[in-house]
This record gives sequence, structure tokens and C-alpha cells, in this order.
Amino acid sequence: MNRQQHWNKVYETKGAQEVSWYQPRPELSLALITASGSGKDAGIIDVGGGASTLVDYLLDAGFTRLAVLDLSGAALTQGRARLGARAAAVEWFEADVTAFVPPHRFGLWHDRAVFHFLTVADDRRRYVATLRQTLQPGGTVIMATFALDGPPKCSGLDVMRYDEQSIVGELGAEFTLQEVLRETHVTPWQLEQRFLYFRFQWQPVRESRQAPATALEVKPFPSAVGAASL
Ligand SMILES: C[S@@+](CC[C@H](N)C(=O)[O-])C[C@H]1O[C@@H](n2cnc3c(N)ncnc32)[C@H](O)[C@@H]1O
Repeated sequence: MNRQQHWNKVYETKGAQEVSWYQPRPELSLALITASGSGKDAGIIDVGGGASTLVDYLLDAGFTRLAVLDLSGAALTQGRARLGARAAAVEWFEADVTAFVPPHRFGLWHDRAVFHFLTVADDRRRYVATLRQTLQPGGTVIMATFALDGPPKCSGLDVMRYDEQSIVGELGAEFTLQEVLRETHVTPWQLEQRFLYFRFQWQPVRESRQAPATALEVKPFPSAVGAASL
């Protein structure tokens, strides 16, 4: 089974509230989007958004130019059905983030629990290449991954776990880490999963734009600017 078939099967066989990553309200994502200071029309893409209600809360808050990208058409169908008529105000992309070609750029890239599934270095490089093609220079990246003390698997798949230094190493020096929040997510069956949420700003430098992310110097991140535990 390839990864698209895997994810479609998940969403075809489970309700939106029966998956381990379900959140009634994506509190930390919303807090970090607010902290980014992004304007209401900056454009936000929720990468691997699945059936998350983040887009609902962003619409409620008056954000426009919203998009949800996911590999699973079944997940996007759930999201569109939930939003009803409001779905027409959102762009929906059924695509693999590692191969996505954006039709235009967005001011904010949000990814909760997608990057950590990329266990092959080439996929992670392609993800960062897509990110660079999709984000506006000066834009915000919010990524949530399992923390080092998080689970080694999710949805039956192996995951990578990150801390500040290793995530900076993946994105490269043009991405400035501005805030880190810790979350203890509680699954619908009351298991605790430790996440880290990273907020970056991207400032591309002409010379280093040509170089692969892995060739960039990785500087240790001194300390988390912010920390929270739920
Ligand atoms: C653990 S779920 C998280 C969903 C959502 N971000 C949330 O927090 O509720 C991972 C999501 O990433 C999607 N996904 C996995 N690999 C992907 C890829 N390579 N490209 C795009 N989406 C992917 C899955 O279909 C799934 O919806």
C-alpha cells in the first residue's frame, strides 16, 4: 500500500474524531498564527491539514485566502462536507507535499504532524523545496512534530522526532526560529503524546538560495523563546 492509499484508508474507515491526532480546537496553532502577526489576507496554507478544524476557526476569525493541502482526497472530502457552503471560500489541493507545485504563494505555512512522517532524507529535501516555492519571502512557517519524548509511530507509520536544533538543521539557516511551544496532546483514548510547535520566519538570501538545505551551516538554537504545556 502506498502512502496515499494508507491515508485514504484511514479517513474512509475512521471518523474525524476517532483519529489519535484529533483536537476539538487547535489552540497552539491558532496562538502561533496570532503571534506571527500575519494579516487577515496574508494567505495561509494548512499542509497535511487532513480533516482538521483549523480552517474553520481561521474563517471564523476573518482570515481569507485559505488553503488546505492533503494527500488524501477522503480527508479533504470530510473537511469540505463539514464546512458546507463555506468550503467554497477555501482552496483545496489533493497533493503530496513533496511534489506539490503551488499556483501562487502564501504568507503562512502551517503543518501539524506531517513533516515528521518523512523518514527518507530525499523526501524531507523535497518538502523544503516545496516550502520555498510556496511561501512568500518574509513569511511564517509553523510546524508541529513529535518531540524527542514523543511516540516513535503515528497511524502505524514510523516518524522522526525533533527538537529545536534538529528542526533548524532540516530547514536551514534562512529560517529563523522565533518561538517554540510544547504540547502534551491527549488522544481520544487518553494517551499522552508530546509535541513541539516551531514558529519560523523565512528570509531568503540570494546566494544560499541555490544551495541545498543540507549544505547550510546549522547553528545551535540557544533557547526556546516561549514554552507552554497543556
Ligand atoms: C497525523 S495527520 C494530521 C492532520 C492534521 N494536520 C491535524 O493536525 O489534524 C497527517 C496528515 O498528513 C497527510 N499526509 C501524510 N503524508 C502527506 C504527504 N506526503 N503530503 C501531503 N499530506 C500528507 C495525511 O493524509 C494526514 O491527513
